[in-house]
Amino acid sequence: MANRKYLIAGNWKLNNGGLTGIELATAVAQATKGVSAEVVVAPPFTALAAVSAELEGTHVEVAAQNLYPKDSGAFTGEISAPMLKDAGCKWVILGHSERRQFFGETDASVNEKVVAAMAAGLKPIACIGETLPEREAGQTLDVCFRQLDAFAPALLKNPGFGVIAYEPVWAIGTGDAATPDDAQGAAALIRQILAERDAAGADEVRILYGGSVNAQNAAAYFGQPDIDGALVGGASLDPSGFAAICRAAASTR
Ligand code: PGA
Repeated sequence: MANRKYLIAGNWKLNNGGLTGIELATAVAQATKGVSAEVVVAPPFTALAAVSAELEGTHVEVAAQNLYPKDSGAFTGEISAPMLKDAGCKWVILGHSERRQFFGETDASVNEKVVAAMAAGLKPIACIGETLPEREAGQTLDVCFRQLDAFAPALLKNPGFGVIAYEPVWAIGTGDAATPDDAQGAAALIRQILAERDAAGADEVRILYGGSVNAQNAAAYFGQPDIDGALVGGASLDPSGFAAICRAAASTR
């Protein structure tokens, strides 16, 4: 197994876009000091520059939650990858299920964004995962395959750079987390699909689990061979709980 370092990313979603974001980021940096996992926080756009400045010189890196795949031009209201780099971001979450569900993102548009992020030197955290109806219809594998297949070629061009997050939609924000076995099964499948394209690359790509991860259940995911960290929503808004998740990662590989 490649030596894949754990990555814990906190997705703040539509929360803490102002001064409270700076406070939360500072608290996260303090609470996670010394952990051996990589730690990332993803504030809303309006807090990115201030949070990046605040975290300068710490171990915590900053992610955006989306981007527009053109660099500049007449695209009112959009934010490009170079702009995110300017704001201090190293990472960007792409294709989150909320973006797919509420903002019409498709496999093709997610791929365009992954390509744009990588071209600008921003590390993508590309999200995939099935909805409850898809799961109940036995389509989990097909959905994951389709979503992954769209951006896999781009991601595998630099396999140690980007990250995949497997987030079953029914587990996000519900408290109904996937079992560690189910999450491992999906992660192993994702790695196998990647391996069909590039065996060495597949071993390098980090795969996160996301969906109701908290301080209590985190260690069980990190004990799985194909799970290399977590994308954390609700629990990332509490610095001590988030730090406990980061420590769980640090102590298991
Ligand atoms: P959750 O969200 O941890 O609140 O379930 C995860 C996510 O949306 O990335």
